[in-house]
Amino acid sequence: MEKRNRTRGRRVLFGLKEELCRLLVEESADGVCVLTGGRVEYCNAAFLNLMGLKAEEIEAAGEGIIWRDLPPVGRERVEDWRRYQSEARNPLPSGALRFVSKAGRSLALNLNAVRGKKERTIILARDITELYNCHLRLQEQEKILAGMIDEASTPVFVVQDGRIRFANKVVFEVFGYHPEELIGTGIDLYLMEEEKGRILQLYEERLTQKPIKKRWEMGLKHKNGHRVDVEIEVNLVSYDGVPAEIVIMHDITARKEMEIFQARALAKIRAAFGATIRVLNNLVEAKDPYTGGHQKRVADLSRTIATEMKLSAEQVDGLRLAAEIHDIGKIIVPSEILSKPGVISESEWGLVKNHVKVGYELLKDIEFPWPVAEIIYQHHERLNGSGYPRGLKGEQIIIEARILAVADVVEAMSSHRPYREAHSLEETMAEIEKNKGILYDEKVAEVCLALFRKKGYNFSFNRR
Ligand SMILES: [Fe+2]
Repeated sequence: MEKRNRTRGRRVLFGLKEELCRLLVEESADGVCVLTGGRVEYCNAAFLNLMGLKAEEIEAAGEGIIWRDLPPVGRERVEDWRRYQSEARNPLPSGALRFVSKAGRSLALNLNAVRGKKERTIILARDITELYNCHLRLQEQEKILAGMIDEASTPVFVVQDGRIRFANKVVFEVFGYHPEELIGTGIDLYLMEEEKGRILQLYEERLTQKPIKKRWEMGLKHKNGHRVDVEIEVNLVSYDGVPAEIVIMHDITARKEMEIFQARALAKIRAAFGATIRVLNNLVEAKDPYTGGHQKRVADLSRTIATEMKLSAEQVDGLRLAAEIHDIGKIIVPSEILSKPGVISESEWGLVKNHVKVGYELLKDIEFPWPVAEIIYQHHERLNGSGYPRGLKGEQIIIEARILAVADVVEAMSSHRPYREAHSLEETMAEIEKNKGILYDEKVAEVCLALFRKKGYNFSFNRR
């Protein structure tokens, strides 16, 4: 009884396996085909679909109906299968093959074949057309990209672990090396000695993923030893599956040379301006000895205040030069008025006040790189609008003129004039303190007070 039950159980199991197997094969999304002795013994629906064939066509035909239009590599594969079959070897060669379905659709199938019993060849076919086409497109794009990089007019490198893995053709024109000479060599070999430390440190920081700028300027060694100035742009990429940097270089040697040329030209222009200023200063001094020395001292104090206030180097330069000639307009004021020991008349005072307008008119058409004429025009304006000639207020007065105004008052009060004695430092500072934020810019006044009271600034260096 027990034996009979066991036999019956085996039959049920066998029947179940057969049914499962049939279901799996028939419903499979992958094609299944069985070949026997050159004929097609079985094809599932998926295989017929892939090949664009009908069941009756398969029944009537030999296996040639499947292998028609195969490319040479496919024919070789089928021959290999036959050979393996005859040599009783397993598994049979597998892999992707291109097919053309009966409807003319181009397919890529991944074929796995095994040798079955009774000289059967069982083929499992998976449609990988989409994947294969993607792969082909990717390969084509890579080829185009590689061509573009190789033919690019600017040097492109791939650097991995500090060594050059790729360089395009144009590197020869820029650095004198053929790409194959560079491959495998360390980047440090091509850095200028004086920049090696800085660049290698940047490289290390980049590897630690620190946020650093993408574009660097640096000097590299040409094969003949001379320096090539370049600007590089670095981007992280994956090269052969390993992180690397793609480095795009721009030769900026010509730009650098132009910058040096421009800097020299600018220095010459500045020197010429300086000489012009000195001539103008001497001109005023010849007419009014008080004004000449006054301007030099005011220029020094203005520069010192502006530097303390962290104005740009450009602004400091412009202010210093403007201050050196800020009373240039006094050349139209008769010497006897400038040196008059007593009180001057209303009309004489009008003439003196007009020096700011005259100074502006004299200089306004000269193309200084700084607003020299405007600084001079505004140096007697006061924060509350009580100044002259236009009664400008607050920030209507440019910062250079607000500084010059304070320096001018401080120097004038601490100097002897034909019509009065010099004020003491305390009296002068008291005037600035009293009127800071009223007549004088508050910040400028505070910086000036600190200079004299805490930092030991004085005019003695230039006092005659
Ligand atoms: Fe003045």
